[in-house]
Amino acid sequence: MNDSYNNKRFDHLEFYVGNSKQAAHYYASCFGFKNTAYCGLETGERKVSSYLMEQGDIRFVLSSSFSPEHSISQSVMRHGDTVAIVALEVPDVVESYNLAVSRGAISYMPPTEQDDEYGVLKFAAVHAYGDVLIKFIDRSEYSGVFAPGFVARSTNAFNAVGLKHIDHVVGNVELGEMDRWCDFFVEALGFGMHMHFDDRAISTEYSALMSKVLRCNDQTFLNINEPATGKRKSQIQEYLDFHYGPGIQHIGLCTDDIVQTVIHLKKSGVEFLPIPKAYYEDLENWVRETALPVEQLAELGILVDRDRDGYLLQIFTKPVGDRPTLFFEIIERHGSKGFGAGNFKSLFVALENEQERRGNL
Ligand code: FE2
Repeated sequence: MNDSYNNKRFDHLEFYVGNSKQAAHYYASCFGFKNTAYCGLETGERKVSSYLMEQGDIRFVLSSSFSPEHSISQSVMRHGDTVAIVALEVPDVVESYNLAVSRGAISYMPPTEQDDEYGVLKFAAVHAYGDVLIKFIDRSEYSGVFAPGFVARSTNAFNAVGLKHIDHVVGNVELGEMDRWCDFFVEALGFGMHMHFDDRAISTEYSALMSKVLRCNDQTFLNINEPATGKRKSQIQEYLDFHYGPGIQHIGLCTDDIVQTVIHLKKSGVEFLPIPKAYYEDLENWVRETALPVEQLAELGILVDRDRDGYLLQIFTKPVGDRPTLFFEIIERHGSKGFGAGNFKSLFVALENEQERRGNL
């Protein structure tokens, strides 16, 4: 592994959606993002409309296209709304791209430069699992708003809900494919191996999954799940069936005040996975002290996990679209660099209850 690739940061995530204008309103009104830049017909762009949504250090780009032939429309037809591009900030696009391609990555876009009066934006992209693209971006010589073609905007009056940065991005791949894709991210993209969970750690009576966590840098991670065989359909298989292939399953977003964030999100209509009351009954016995009383955690449905480094608080939304595919996790870390392994079981029972309601278990 080349050390110069170790310190990757998520630059942004780009979503391909059916209606970017309405999606922008959803992420603004429900999740408290601000629409800070736009490109579309009014700015001279004839094929695609894109909304840059920002909160804290998080950048989402929501894109739709105007014609049925465009790759964005094709993606929406196949996958529904999905995270199509994971963009990584890199110091040298050509170096990142060449290394990736020389180690087996399939090129999507060779190193490209786009300029306007604000400078030069450099980028390139390679394929990852499914139709997901990994984009390398160097914006060190660019001072404009996001990218050439975008114009600055500040149109919404919704309040931020306290989301700070992307903590982790999780993808689902088919049975037997997890190791191959982890190797790909380590060897071709320079990620570090962080931890893994096998199906013994993540199983319920009915279904199981396996998961590996790759390190982008000290505070951001990329996780990959695959289904494991159980008595009934794994939640990962449900995703794969409805997404029509591998893709991004959930995005973990950090907050410093999970209670206030969750209160705001609930008020604006975001739905969370209901956690069985039994979860909280013996919580105090094993989780020891947290900054919040167990009653408050129970009232909001917040989960707790503790490891040797500290603890974390987390909660999961229901899928944000019609298909049981993409959802969000809100996470507040107090030292722990884990992912809530102690919660996997109760979480998956909750997920399976939802899966059963959808007729997919
Ligand atoms: Fe997560």
